[in-house]
Amino acid sequence: MSIDSSLVYMDNSSTTRPFPEVNEAMNSVYARQFGNPSSLHSMGYEAEKLVSKARKSVANLLGVGEDRIFFTSGGTEANNWAIFGSLRSAGSKYNHVIASAVEHPSVLAVMEYLKQIGYRVSLAPVDREGRVDPAQVLSLVGEDTCVVSVMLVQNEVGTVQPCAEIGAGLAQLGPRRPRFHVDAVQGFARIDIDVERWGIDLLSISSHKIHGPKGIGALYIRKGVRMHPLILGGGQEQGLRSGTENVPGIAGFGVACDIWAKISGEARRKMYGLRKRLMGGVRAVFPDAVLNGPEVENAAPHIVNFSFPGFRGETILHALEKRKVFVSTGSACSSRKSKPSPVILALGKTEEEALSAIRFSMSPYTAVEDVDNTVSALEDALKELAPWRRKLT
Ligand SMILES: Cc1ncc(COP(=O)(O)O)c(C=O)c1O
Repeated sequence: MSIDSSLVYMDNSSTTRPFPEVNEAMNSVYARQFGNPSSLHSMGYEAEKLVSKARKSVANLLGVGEDRIFFTSGGTEANNWAIFGSLRSAGSKYNHVIASAVEHPSVLAVMEYLKQIGYRVSLAPVDREGRVDPAQVLSLVGEDTCVVSVMLVQNEVGTVQPCAEIGAGLAQLGPRRPRFHVDAVQGFARIDIDVERWGIDLLSISSHKIHGPKGIGALYIRKGVRMHPLILGGGQEQGLRSGTENVPGIAGFGVACDIWAKISGEARRKMYGLRKRLMGGVRAVFPDAVLNGPEVENAAPHIVNFSFPGFRGETILHALEKRKVFVSTGSACSSRKSKPSPVILALGKTEEEALSAIRFSMSPYTAVEDVDNTVSALEDALKELAPWRRKLT
């Protein structure tokens, strides 16, 4: 399907449209700078220069040293690596891991697997807005805890987690404290992160959520944190992540970071404004709508999630699609399954609410008219569906 200027893309937490500058940079690498960064000749050197430049751009946006950025195939690999790599580098004495109950499947599936193979796994519950209690997370830490993994922004409901408080609490536990891993895939570029001050040891990011290409991301590893590689081979990425570098992807990711470094303040303000407008609009056309996630405080700028009791999420999604508005029913990975969202259920919401949830997610590209068109398409769609409104459970 080609891009149609009349479509309203409100599914930016699933993926974003690459910035034109990203596409240009990638096309140039594919066409001209296609050398292997490990090659000793000048074409290899040129590719290596592109990788270093992009590494600086990513590090700069995150506010860390460039030697601490390790490119991966995306957020999923970074999350898997953070947890498995930590367990492999810690002694066998460490057999306990902690995560929040609303982590992305790329963390929760790892937790499930670890449980099956005999690790002790603790999942910290969240409140009605999707937030973990830092004191409760810290109370789960034991002598055998290897990693605490808490995401920065919840991908379905947009809750900003208290990562600074959790990091500060862990820092007080001394040198044998567990590592702190933050899945910042939904927060990177869109909210402030202070990796140093928050005591973050490992942090995952992904390019395609910030208008970069798909299939590229990174894990930040704090200096001094010993990590085992997951992928062995030619020793790329300081020997920690082998495989010929995805140079076009890395170059595109770097360009996306450079753009965000310039626009992020303005983009955040704009998205917070649009979020408020969207929330007001949804409530005006459907007063029974139930907000999932925070109202204002601890809310990320780009995500709004509402339940529409009486209507299945997929039904609304397709009725909106017919009106050229693209949304999501939950996280992309689970949205093809017609099950209530485990994240919405973890917030203590009813099954009815979980089955009728719709996520609207914005980007710096989103305009006021997009929000207004979304609201009128929603009004129209719900009117059309009204005769079929019924209790879902
Ligand atoms: C919070 C979060 N973590 C991890 C991921 C996985 O990232 P990727 O798609 O780059 O593998 C996603 C993607 O939806 C996400 O939203």
